[in-house]
Amino acid sequence: MRRYLIFLSLISLIIFSLTDCNNSYSDGKYLYEIHCQSCHMPDGVGLKGLIPPLAGSDYLKKNYDKLPCVILLGVEGEIVVNGKTYNQPMAGIPELETMDIALLINYINHQWGNDGKYTDFREVEANLQKCE
Ligand code: HEC
Repeated sequence: MRRYLIFLSLISLIIFSLTDCNNSYSDGKYLYEIHCQSCHMPDGVGLKGLIPPLAGSDYLKKNYDKLPCVILLGVEGEIVVNGKTYNQPMAGIPELETMDIALLINYINHQWGNDGKYTDFREVEANLQKCE
């Protein structure tokens, strides 16, 4: 009986950690809904000509290291996303914690068919040191 119980708790532990792992990319969803989707839209397609898409964005891959600064401090001036030029300033969200930024990056890098890199607290912190 005791063995059976240990076995059972081991199995539930494994199942628990697996589901936790599957959910980790979507942990940033609520932050995206609060801070980003009004402009970039729930499905990440942006707004034609004005707001660039995050879904399928080549900018996300090419400027991976800059993403923490884009989110915290915003971005302005001309940028090119998937061959189209955008030039509307995006305000940053300075009240975000480093961990929130990591969650957001992991969310946008793994939603809508995106298959970007997985980041963590330490990497975001290091990249924030490089903001201009
Ligand atoms: C008020 C509207 C607005 C909000 C809110 C907003 N953005 Fe943006 N975002 C823009 C605009 C406009 C640009 C283009 C900036 C430029 O032209 O220089 C942009 C550009 C970007 C880019 C680079 C281009 C691309 O599409 O890959 C990323 C990444 C990005 N935003 C992520 C986010 C994230 C993550 C959030 C939420 C934390 C967010 N944005 C919130 C308007 C917004």
